[in-house]
Amino acid sequence: MKLAERIAHLGTETAFAVSAEAAAFGATGNKVYPFHLGDMNIPTPANVMEAAVKAMKDGKTGYCPNAGIPRLREVLAAEVSASRGVRYTMENVVIQPGGKPTIGKFLLTLLNPGDEVLYPSPGYPIYESQIEFLGGIPKPYRYLEGERTFTIDLDALRRQITPATRLLVLNDLQNPTGAECSSEEREALADIVLKHDLYVLCDEAYFDIRYDGHSTSFVSLPGMAERCVILYTFSKKFAMTGWRLGASIGPKPIVDVIAKLNVNDESCSNHFIQYGAIEGLTGDPSGPRRILSILKERRDLCVELLNAIPGIHCLRPNATFYLFPNVTRAMQAKGFDDYEAFRRALLHETGVSVCSRLHFGRPLAGETQFYIRLAYSGIDLPEIREGLTRFRQFVEG
Ligand SMILES: Cc1ncc(COP(=O)(O)O)c(C=O)c1O
Repeated sequence: MKLAERIAHLGTETAFAVSAEAAAFGATGNKVYPFHLGDMNIPTPANVMEAAVKAMKDGKTGYCPNAGIPRLREVLAAEVSASRGVRYTMENVVIQPGGKPTIGKFLLTLLNPGDEVLYPSPGYPIYESQIEFLGGIPKPYRYLEGERTFTIDLDALRRQITPATRLLVLNDLQNPTGAECSSEEREALADIVLKHDLYVLCDEAYFDIRYDGHSTSFVSLPGMAERCVILYTFSKKFAMTGWRLGASIGPKPIVDVIAKLNVNDESCSNHFIQYGAIEGLTGDPSGPRRILSILKERRDLCVELLNAIPGIHCLRPNATFYLFPNVTRAMQAKGFDDYEAFRRALLHETGVSVCSRLHFGRPLAGETQFYIRLAYSGIDLPEIREGLTRFRQFVEG
């Protein structure tokens, strides 16, 4: 069969292939410790579920406006205005079936073939996939491992910029490193954006998944709200990954085009679940708080146990539900210089299933350190303890 040529440029989220491998290993009676996929085993808060069920019973089962129901757009605009310190109205909000659709729709709206896009690598793999699929030129920027956190290599990022650079993807509170930009980093990036007349996709999927303090949005810096589209999602804060609900939030001319893309793609997002989201944003806040406290306990246990493994060094991010430990010495001690061989041996000898740096965009020239990524959103404390103890025995053995 002859498929369209553009399909050759479409990437994927290879973490799903790791899931399939882990499932196949589990299907033969083996115990699997699922650290690979950023899905959640925590239920959606009951008030959110009840509001969605009620809406369904009340007949909210037909099409709804392609930009989302007005009340949800209003309350989301109010919430994002308050948490980001920028004034948005419902005109700035277009509801999406998840956070992910904002990536492709942002690029479809602003990218011409041959335009260059700066994006993080390691980073969420869909950026690279969609940039290349839509004819853009990928310009990855890297993170450096510091004492306390990963930081963006701003000098290397600046060196990537040419007159063809048009867009920047910023995932502050980052998957996979868990990094949060410092105010200096944000200011330096805002200078770059203004100097080179860039538009920005602010992927804020983890804005509310933080354990201390408050998140700061890049859009709050002077001149940025006019140039940024926020990727918002209900998936993580409300443990709603499978519901598929999110939003694109930004300047009206861009948001209007994204709404038009909705008409062409899915017509509208699922109608009755939008009532669940309204309840999430306006009702009892104890559900998201509980989710955070569960995740925080898991983070603390994972970091402690990972750092007890010889040859592994794991930073302790204050946000996201990911860890990105440096496993270079552990791999060397076990005689591995290949990510996939290490990951598969770990799975088959211990049942511990993880992703590696390879699942987060093509590695960049000059990378000398090896990293794996663990998600602790889908695994309970006893399994974390058992799995990471097996991991230690594997490295020590
Ligand atoms: C950085 C980042 N952006 C976007 C998404 C997409 O989230 P959603 O489930 O809302 O589509 C994810 C999901 O893991 C993510 O890690």
